[in-house]
Amino acid sequence: MSKISAAITAVGAYVPDFVLTNKLLETMVDTNDEWITTRTGIKERRILKEEGQGTSFLAIEAAKDLLKKKNLDPKEIDLVIVATATPDILVASTAVYTATQIGATNAFGYDLQAACSSFLYAMSTGAAYIESGRYKKVLIIGADKMSSIIDYTDRATCIIFGDGAGAVLLEPNEEGLGLQDEYLRSDGQGREFLKIEAGGSILPPSKETVEKGQHFVHQDGKTVFKFAVSNMADVAEKIMTRNNLSHEDVDWLVPHQANLRIIDATANRMKLDDSKVLKNIQRYGNTTSATLPLLLSDFEKQFKKGDNLVFAAFGGGFTWGSIYLKWAYNS
Ligand code: UT7
Repeated sequence: MSKISAAITAVGAYVPDFVLTNKLLETMVDTNDEWITTRTGIKERRILKEEGQGTSFLAIEAAKDLLKKKNLDPKEIDLVIVATATPDILVASTAVYTATQIGATNAFGYDLQAACSSFLYAMSTGAAYIESGRYKKVLIIGADKMSSIIDYTDRATCIIFGDGAGAVLLEPNEEGLGLQDEYLRSDGQGREFLKIEAGGSILPPSKETVEKGQHFVHQDGKTVFKFAVSNMADVAEKIMTRNNLSHEDVDWLVPHQANLRIIDATANRMKLDDSKVLKNIQRYGNTTSATLPLLLSDFEKQFKKGDNLVFAAFGGGFTWGSIYLKWAYNS
C-alpha cells in the first residue's frame, strides 16, 4: 500500500465588510498613510463591527464557504481545529461551537493557540491525524477577531492588525501530494516581546488591569521584527535545503502577512522571483491565524496540481516554522 499523505482538498474564506483604511486611522491616532505603507505594506484591514459576534462568526462563515464550494456534507467531517489567538470566550472552545453551527455533528473539535503560527501548527496537527489513518476529513480553520484585543489609541499596534478567517480541508492522498515536510520551532524567551499581560492565570482581569490597558496586545515591534526576519528566512531555507528544492522548484511562497519587509526578506533569502511570493497584506493587514488560509483562498485559482508550496510563519511566543506541501488539485 502506498504511503498516505495529508492533502489540502478545498479552501474557504471570510472577511467582514467594514474596511478600516489608513486614511481613517489618520483620524484616530498620530499616523499617516505614507508611514504605514512604507513600514508595513498595509493599506487597509477588515473589522468585524457587529456587537455580540466573535471569532466563531468568522470561522463559521469561512467553513460555510468551503462546504459550499466543495459540496461537502458537514456530517462527513471527523475533526474541526480552530487556530486562534482570540477565542470567543475562555474555557469553552470556539471550535466546538463552530463545528455544531456548521452541522459537523459527527466531529470533535478543539482550539489551537500559537499566535501567528497557529494555522501552521494546526496544519501539522491535522496532517498527523490523516497520515496515521485515524481520520479522513479534518477541517482546519484559522480565525481571529484581532480588533477585540487591539487598543485603538496605540499607533504601534492598531495600524497592523485586522479580522478574518480561512479554512482548509485535509484528506488522505496516495499520489504523493499534500504535506511533504515541516520544520516547526518555538522559544519561550520571546514571550515578553508580544503578549497580552492580563486576563490569564498569572494576572487575572481586574479593574486595575483594565485601567492600565493590560487586556490589549502589546508588542516590542523592533525586537519582534528582528527575530521574524531572521527566523522566517532560516526555516524556509532549511526546508528547501533538506528537500533539495532550488528556487526554481518552489512555485509559491505562502508567507505569514505581518509586514511586507519581513515577507521580502524571506523571499530574498530563498532567491525567489517576486511573482512567486503570495501577498494580500495590503488589503487585510495581519489577521494572525487567518493570513495563510486567506492567501490560499485568494490565489487558489492560480495553483496547479503538483505545485510546490512553501509556507512560513513567525509569531508571538515566539513560535515559527515552515511547511512544504504539494498542491493536490486544479481549480
Ligand atoms: O505577526 C506577529 C509578529 N509581528 C510582527 O512580525 C511585527 C514585527 N514588527 C514590525 O512589523 C515593525 O516593527 C512595526 C511595523 C511594528 C514598526 O515598524 P518599525 O520600522 O520597527 O518602527 P519603530 O517601532 O522602530 O518606530 C520608528 C518610528 C518611531 O519614532 P522615533 O522614535 O523614531 O521618533 C515610532 O514612534 O516610527 C514611530 N511610529 C509611528 N509613526 C507613525 C511607530 N508607529 C507609528 C505609526 N505612525 N503608526
